Amino acid sequence: MLANTKTILEKAARKNYAVGHFNINNMEILQGVVQAANNLKAPIIVATSEGAIKYAGMNFLYDLVRTASELSKVPIALHLDHGQDMNIIRQAIKIGYSSVMFDGSHYPFKKNLRLTKKVVKLAHKKNISVEAELGTIGGVEDNIKSKKIIYTDPEKAQEFVNKTGCDFLAIAIGTSHGAYKFRGPAKLNFALLKEIKQKIKVPLVLHGGSEVPREVVQQAEKYGAKLSGVRGVPDQQIRMAVKYGINKINTDTDLRIAFDAAVRKIIKTKPKDFDPRHILAPARDLITKVAEHRIKVFGSVKKW
Ligand code: G3H
Ligand code: 13P
Ligand code: ZN
Repeated sequence: MLANTKTILEKAARKNYAVGHFNINNMEILQGVVQAANNLKAPIIVATSEGAIKYAGMNFLYDLVRTASELSKVPIALHLDHGQDMNIIRQAIKIGYSSVMFDGSHYPFKKNLRLTKKVVKLAHKKNISVEAELGTIGGVEDNIKSKKIIYTDPEKAQEFVNKTGCDFLAIAIGTSHGAYKFRGPAKLNFALLKEIKQKIKVPLVLHGGSEVPREVVQQAEKYGAKLSGVRGVPDQQIRMAVKYGINKINTDTDLRIAFDAAVRKIIKTKPKDFDPRHILAPARDLITKVAEHRIKVFGSVKKW
């Protein structure tokens, strides 16, 4: 059975650690992250973006994740990431996702508030929790939109949570989506995080949390990837974000780079092997390794 996102995150908030949210697009990525969670006895949240749903189909992804949750010894929740299309959000609620995100961060405050409230009403009827976003996380989603970072205003965040009744809030404290997060040194705004934490009682979410690990980037580059200038959030800053109150950390880019690095290596080093299982199994294994590292940094080892 799929786990309840709210139960998982409220426990994390009480005990001051973060749960890994991992984006998946196919079976191998899902198996890779679920293996990591089981190896470390950590609850995780598996997420599908609207792009993942367009790629693989919601029914298909839902059934894969539900099956994974039934085989898993630790809780696996299923979350809709960056929901913007009301039809997709309604469908996710109907099919039985554990939680949905409504991302109205690009709208003016009042419109974001009104639409978030509407999603909360729909989802809560089915005991499904809702993540909302205030402020904008920079970067690229679906390779098209480039957003500037607009930091979350703590007063507005308090009003937003009170009025919408959302269960978790994604805040902007300097991260961005994708592999190019910072031009200079990585810098999250911890003073702002502390201020928001004092005002907001629901669990806080950090998007754009990938580390972009050096050794994985080096492997991808060794076998042909062009990744100059990539830069993620260092582990130390993630640990501080958790210390100051982040309870859910989203990771997609690190899994993508791991997948890419492993596939490139096998194709380059075994040019005569065209068995998809031989090509994809190392990707699944490297994803497990990368996800295990993330879970350790988040502090959620042996939390179930
Ligand atoms: O936050 C965005 C995630 O990385 C999902 O990306 O929309 O390309 O699936 P995607
Ligand atoms: P990364 O691009 O840093 O992995 O962030 C993913 C994310 O925030 C998904 O919602
Ligand atoms: Zn995100």
